[in-house]
Amino acid sequence: MSTISILYFSGSGHTTKLAEAVTKGAAAVGGVQTHLIAINGDDIEKGRYANDEVFAQLDASDAIIFGSPTYMGGPAAQFKAFADASSGRWYHGGWRDKVAAGFTVSSGPSGDKLSTLHYFFTLAMQHGMIWVGFPETMMNDQGINRLSSYSGVMAQAGQESPEVAPNAADKLTGELLGKRVAEIVARYKK
Ligand SMILES: Cc1cc2nc3c(=O)[nH]c(=O)nc-3n(C[C@H](O)[C@H](O)[C@H](O)COP(=O)(O)O)c2cc1C
Repeated sequence: MSTISILYFSGSGHTTKLAEAVTKGAAAVGGVQTHLIAINGDDIEKGRYANDEVFAQLDASDAIIFGSPTYMGGPAAQFKAFADASSGRWYHGGWRDKVAAGFTVSSGPSGDKLSTLHYFFTLAMQHGMIWVGFPETMMNDQGINRLSSYSGVMAQAGQESPEVAPNAADKLTGELLGKRVAEIVARYKK
């Protein structure tokens, strides 16, 4: 049995929809238990994030998939507060050799989403995790990876309701990221 956590922040619900799609893709792979974990802004006091239950679930995971909207060209402040709080795990190498991947949502086709994915990558590398990218090309008729991001998954949503954006193609792209991570974890654990 593999355990995969999808750890994300969402301000207005769009990233939640993508996180759910990633979780669905991972859960569809046999022998996988998923934890969909939202970063709650109420867990940040005086700028510091604290939630022992969340960290215990992450500690017990084989893979952590990071998600955040892109706000002002990077991850949301709430995600960064979580990342800073993970420094205790960094100190003891607690997440070393776990598998990592990431996804982000923003309103622009680019919108500087790559900066957010690169931040997730850097966070994973600081923890000694193993980064899984997303090699699906945009050459398909389902809109999979239509934004052509190979470092992680990008989706587009702005002022629309989270019920309609991210669109079906972006959610399918998220599902495939979850599936890919789950399959890689299964191979890695063999
Ligand atoms: C504070 C703030 C900053 C934003 N900065 C960007 C940005 O840099 N690039 C972009 O394309 N969209 C930006 N947006 C739009 C959001 O990324 C977009 O609405 C996204 O779907 C929000 O996700 P959420 O509903 O999960 O919070 C910003 C929105 C907010 C509220």
